[in-house]
Amino acid sequence: MTESVKKSRVLTGITTTGTPHLGNYVGAIRPAIAASQLETNDSFFFLADFHALIKCQDPALVHQSTKEIAATWLALGLDPENVVFYRQSDVPEIPELCWMLNCMTAKGLMNRAHAYKGAVDVNLEEGKDPDAGITMGLYSYPVLMAADILMFNANKVPVGKDQIQHVEMARDVAARFNHHFGDKFVLPEAVVDDKIAVLQGLDGRKMSKSYGNTIPLFLTEKQMQKHINKIKTNLLEPGEPKDPDTSTVFQLWEAFASEQQVAEMRQAFADGIAWGESKKQLFALVNSELSEARENYNDLMSRPKDMEEILQAGAVKARRYSQPLLDKCRRAVGIRALK
Ligand code: TRP
Repeated sequence: MTESVKKSRVLTGITTTGTPHLGNYVGAIRPAIAASQLETNDSFFFLADFHALIKCQDPALVHQSTKEIAATWLALGLDPENVVFYRQSDVPEIPELCWMLNCMTAKGLMNRAHAYKGAVDVNLEEGKDPDAGITMGLYSYPVLMAADILMFNANKVPVGKDQIQHVEMARDVAARFNHHFGDKFVLPEAVVDDKIAVLQGLDGRKMSKSYGNTIPLFLTEKQMQKHINKIKTNLLEPGEPKDPDTSTVFQLWEAFASEQQVAEMRQAFADGIAWGESKKQLFALVNSELSEARENYNDLMSRPKDMEEILQAGAVKARRYSQPLLDKCRRAVGIRALK
């Protein structure tokens, strides 16, 4: 008897703000592309440009970031033939579903969303009106995220810890819709991989755009070396043993090295490798993993029209899923032709 393998439908949204950095690469992009290559996964990747509007009102930046992020994923080996790769705003069924879901979402549920609550807390601390500067976009974005996920009946959603709550909200909203209008949606599950490293930035804190401590992914070799040289170290001299487990240089090394290279560097730290030398070796290692992708990236950035074609083909594929499901949802809520 042949055993049929039940595939997981994996969906990943990438907000198009900012320039991808090494932390994004190690923590999200590299593992996601690896997972997309598994036979057992059916993968959907999309550029979440409607989500970008929540954080960024600079049109040039939203546009530039969309281009950079599309080029990044393609340059690193995301295969648009093998996955469904599209831009959220090219799939009009998503915002339409979002509205239907809004009408099934308790306001009280959104009051509990971390992103909104966090913004209210900051306002209160600063003695301002609790809702100062908070848009409906920020407030209700978990509903848009639910539409992203439910539109494609994804059952697995790989996310960082900060996004687990949103996937749970998508589940709640889906269950309520299903209960009310009959089963239409698969209930999604958040997948968090604790083995994936959260990379430290130049100052030793988590690498994050908001801390200004990142190493952008596709710098020139010279700029990459410069950034690596800026990683904070202590004052220990060459020849003095160094502690790998408190070192950002070592942590970055671990994210790129083989097991054997990790053991060798651990020994080199014990033997008192100079900080300058350790950074030189780190640069060589990181550069060897990224140099081919950097060439692909620069090439893609120079021909945006080709990327646009890839995205349009992706939207056609995506809409093969979203159109029939939205049609069912419209009928289920009572929106259909008069006859
Ligand atoms: N909100 C997510 C983030 O900030 C990005 C995102 C948008 C997403 N829609 C999604 C992630 C759907 C997973 C599924 O990281």
